[in-house]
Amino acid sequence: MRLELPKNVERFGAIRFGDLQKVFELDAGPGNGSMPSATQAIQAIPHRELYAIFKNMAIIIPVRSERLKLIEGVLSGVPHPCLIIVVSNSPILPIDRFSMEQDALNDFCNFVGKSALIVHQKDPNIARAFEKAGYTGILDEQGLVYDGKAEGMLIGTMLARLAGKKYIGFVDADNYFPGAVEEYIREYAAGFIISQSKYSMVRIAWHSKPKIAESKLFFRKWGRTTSNTNQLLNKLIAHYTGYETEIIKTGNAGEHALTADLALNIDYSAGYSIEPYHIVNILEKFGGILESPLPDIMMKSIEIYQIESRNPHLHEAGDQTHIDEMRREAMQVIYHSPICPDSIKREIKTDALKRGFIGTNKIELDRCRNFPALSSIDTEIFLQEIASTPYGRLLADRSVTRQEWRIV
Ligand code: GDD
Repeated sequence: MRLELPKNVERFGAIRFGDLQKVFELDAGPGNGSMPSATQAIQAIPHRELYAIFKNMAIIIPVRSERLKLIEGVLSGVPHPCLIIVVSNSPILPIDRFSMEQDALNDFCNFVGKSALIVHQKDPNIARAFEKAGYTGILDEQGLVYDGKAEGMLIGTMLARLAGKKYIGFVDADNYFPGAVEEYIREYAAGFIISQSKYSMVRIAWHSKPKIAESKLFFRKWGRTTSNTNQLLNKLIAHYTGYETEIIKTGNAGEHALTADLALNIDYSAGYSIEPYHIVNILEKFGGILESPLPDIMMKSIEIYQIESRNPHLHEAGDQTHIDEMRREAMQVIYHSPICPDSIKREIKTDALKRGFIGTNKIELDRCRNFPALSSIDTEIFLQEIASTPYGRLLADRSVTRQEWRIV
């Protein structure tokens, strides 16, 4: 892969936000590349370095009622050395869609010669593991993990941690282009290679999202939700720096990856608010506005890379209610942040009223559920509670684990 270094970096407390990076070549040629050097604006990332990262990377695929053919395509796009973790919240009644997903994953693993983990979000063992570890905020009235994409991602992150993975990447299960999935994961790895910090995150800005408009394909660049979230996050940053900025281009990036060190130390927010909240919580914890609960990490730098993919992103399109839900949740997490100034709060509230996100007689926007950093969870307790499950057995037996996840 050949990509540029961020042309512009904005520093905010301990955080370095890199501007959008362009990919010049998906494959920079055989044997190409020495290790990247900070003096070269365009970096050729060596194959062997990408593969070294893949071996240490878990790819988490959150699934809820997606077509099996789509999931199979996504699986085929994940580079072989990565550990696949599927977290499904698909219904088991009247048709057991989860067992169909298990079957499909099993066939895939048999054909390609590797193993993967699959877990249902409502698995009582997982719920008990969270409960015994004292992480009860993730459990609903029935004592099971709440619905929601973020909640599924948290389960996946815990399993990746137990598998000892250093990098954790996410890809949606509804992607029509396996080649795009592969590209995102290469970009995650490339970002980690150029990163100087063990607390880093790579967020993908889609090159375009094709739509049919007037019987022709139109390659739209920015979705309305993303534009709105980016604008609010940029205003939040500008409020403190005093300089208007457009640095945030990936406010809602569903496709993103984090080092385990960062993933385990930030807080999370429910559903689709998880991605904008990454930025908000990193600003809260490491931006230097509030006292950091993690002064040791504050002494290091937190690096955020934003890479523009080359493949168009074609996925199952949600309806207007779904789009509104994502926009509303992003607005809620920014609004309720203790670092959100009154001027931005007023702006969000006016917009929320206009869009009917809050009724005229209501004073406040709703709050999204919030989950503390996963680093607080005792891994041994968690592992004990899932020990009898197929995924728990794989994780518990580290020797099997190592062998099973070898590259064949
Ligand atoms: N485990 C689990 N649990 N997975 C879920 C759940 C859930 O409750 N809800 C949705 N998913 C899965 C979907 O099956 C899909 O694989 C992925 O999460 C994304 O959900 P979508 O509902 O398809 O989201 P989207 O495509 O409209 O939005 C995506 O892009 C946005 C940026 O434009 C998401 O990744 C958003 O998070 C992102 O902000």
